[in-house]
Amino acid sequence: MSVKWPNEVQICEVGPRDGLQNEAAILSTAEKIAWIDSLSESGLRFIEVSSFVSPKWIPALADADEVLAGIRRKPGVVYSALVPNARGLERALNAKVDAAAVFMSASESHNKHNINKSIAETYPVLREVTQGAKAAGLFVRGYVSTVFGCPYEGEVDPKQALNVAMRLLEDGVDEISLGDTIGVSTPAKTARVLDVMLQEIPVDKIVLHMHNTRGTALANILVGLEYGVTSFDSALGGLGGCPYAPGAAGNVATDDLVYLLRDSGVVTGIEDAKLHESLALLEKSVGHSLASHASSYLRSRGWKE
Ligand code: HMG
Ligand code: MG
Repeated sequence: MSVKWPNEVQICEVGPRDGLQNEAAILSTAEKIAWIDSLSESGLRFIEVSSFVSPKWIPALADADEVLAGIRRKPGVVYSALVPNARGLERALNAKVDAAAVFMSASESHNKHNINKSIAETYPVLREVTQGAKAAGLFVRGYVSTVFGCPYEGEVDPKQALNVAMRLLEDGVDEISLGDTIGVSTPAKTARVLDVMLQEIPVDKIVLHMHNTRGTALANILVGLEYGVTSFDSALGGLGGCPYAPGAAGNVATDDLVYLLRDSGVVTGIEDAKLHESLALLEKSVGHSLASHASSYLRSRGWKE
């Protein structure tokens, strides 16, 4: 291969949070726990298990506390959750998360729709969460949404997204996950955004969080790999969306991403067979066919390799 890819990448499984927040059917707490336990066995090292947001805003994840209390924690796996404010941090610390993820948008309108604040009003709230989480010894991720486009405003200036990311880093987050919330990016746009980001942010602090609305997520990830990005968010089966981004579809599918990286010399630590067991369990729990290519292939073969 003439293009140099990283030797190892980290895949953060966001399905239990990003996927389930947008499912029509709400899984029971026991079903969520069983699915997360099966993900823990697959070799994934970072799992975003739920959200300590307002249950009025995201009813599907209202049982975050119980889910965290019920999962079997595998040594070496980081269990994280979204935390929007001080109340969320208190809940997250009680639930003993390993990592907290703060989140805001690069565009004003999406930020307002998603967390009911302007961008300027959000910074002090997230700074308090970040500093409290760091003081408690947690890893802190900072999500920037709508980096590649906004459902309300259209194009977003990458420099505006960079400003938001830099502010979160200054306030202490350990990494920045760049969100293609509505899956509008293309390889060319991904490269333009990374060109701007990498002028100021070291590549090892960048994560790509691509939704697959238009089928371009894997192509965008390839661009990320070529730029040296080593961390990607994905959801098993392509589950997901964003309840405050109309038209947003699921995240890139973990199973398709793992297949793409197979034979490329990039280590993920994930075992196909275990991941596929988890996929079959998830499909049974959500009660409908999942969107990923790998799941449709495996389904056609009765879930055998
Ligand atoms: P608000 O209504 O402005 O806040 O919501 P508030 O402080 O006035 O609180 C309203 C009520 O919620 C109060 O209860 C609070 O106690 C309660 P009431 O007095 O009415 O009974 N409350 C809470 N309860 C439990 N835990 C909490 C909490 N906070 C307040 N932490 C707020 C502001 C930020 C809370 C709300 O807007 C919210 O929860 N938003 C979350 C929306 C969300 O989760 N969106 C999806 C995740 S982001 C995403 O998917 C994008 C991403 O994947 C990246 C990408 O794709 O780009 C990350
Ligand atoms: Mg998302």
